[in-house]
Amino acid sequence: MSNTENHENQPTKNKKIIVTGGYGLVGQAIQTIVQQQKQKNSLGLVENQDAYLFLSSKDYDLTSMEQTQQLFQTHQPTHVIHLAANVGGLFKNMNHKVDMLEKNLAINYNVIKTAHEYKVQKLVACLSTCIFPDAVPTYPITEEMLHDGPPHPSNDAYAYAKRMLEIHCRAYRENYGDNFVCVSPTNVYGPHDNFNLEDGHVLPALIHKCFLAKESNTDFVIRGTGKPMRQFIYSEDLAQMMLTVLFSQNTPGNLILSSPEESEISIGEVATQIAKCFDYESRMRMDASFSDGQFKKTVSNQKIMRIMPPTFQYTSMEDGIRKTVEWFLNTENKRV
Ligand SMILES: NC(=O)c1ccc[n+]([C@@H]2O[C@H](COP(=O)([O-])OP(=O)(O)OC[C@H]3O[C@@H](n4cnc5c(N)ncnc54)[C@H](OP(=O)(O)O)[C@@H]3O)[C@@H](O)[C@H]2O)c1
Repeated sequence: MSNTENHENQPTKNKKIIVTGGYGLVGQAIQTIVQQQKQKNSLGLVENQDAYLFLSSKDYDLTSMEQTQQLFQTHQPTHVIHLAANVGGLFKNMNHKVDMLEKNLAINYNVIKTAHEYKVQKLVACLSTCIFPDAVPTYPITEEMLHDGPPHPSNDAYAYAKRMLEIHCRAYRENYGDNFVCVSPTNVYGPHDNFNLEDGHVLPALIHKCFLAKESNTDFVIRGTGKPMRQFIYSEDLAQMMLTVLFSQNTPGNLILSSPEESEISIGEVATQIAKCFDYESRMRMDASFSDGQFKKTVSNQKIMRIMPPTFQYTSMEDGIRKTVEWFLNTENKRV
């Protein structure tokens, strides 16, 4: 089957698509792509923009079963992209383990169980490549390795809650034939990210740090040697992948959503590109007294590329970082 044949013709006709966590980093990127594609009608995925409903925790607190049922009863979704989660960087993962475990278990249990009760036709639930085993026999990491060993101890609470989400979706597929699938994005970055220095992920936190260093005329200090390698994906590239998965037929139970293996980049290089955007490279330095964490965790993007349309192109790191820095500098109401 070709990539084009694999997609539905009028994907949003007679559909109600809800996006939980619709105002976070990934949810906002899906909103952007839905608006862009409505204007261009490019991938033909959104001819009916009204089919989409983006939700915040202010609309429904999904840790509550009662509110989750209210959501499904009121909106009767046919399709769900489930992004809502308690998410954070290293500090939050290590210092708020109980919250990361309990809130994510509760949100996921409520959403998946209720989606089954309301006979949702397709649900795409979000995992993460950071929940894969800490030690793997070979790189790249593939979808099949998800449960093959413990996650890194720093984020085990978050990781096991997310792994249960995969088991939960699989159980409904196997016992009831529900079309509930999972996707595992690699490190995401882009506009609307959380730029908080303690709670945020590495790339937005570095942008914020560089901004503050320049403002106070101090060094831009990167913790560790800068040598660890990471794969990043620009949030709008990820959004296109998620919509493609939502409307593709016969998708596998878990798909890694990543940039290619060869796009892996060192944290030092990411910091350099950020410093360039601020014209502050001369004041950048590494502080090797801090530990580096895992050296690499290369993942494979082969499976998702089999279903992406041939017209799909990745955003380069240079462009993605530039757009993210511009958004950070030009947006008053940001998460810092
Ligand atoms: N960021 C990454 O690098 C990354 C990488 C891999 C996978 N992921 C996954 O991608 C998904 C989206 O992540 P993100 O980066 O967009 O996170 P985010 O910006 O923190 O957004 C998370 C969203 O979840 C919502 N949420 C949290 N608690 C909720 C609750 N009790 N009830 C209802 N909604 C709730 C939040 O709503 P409000 O803001 O309205 O409170 C927010 O919109 C998550 O499942 C995450 O695990 C992210």
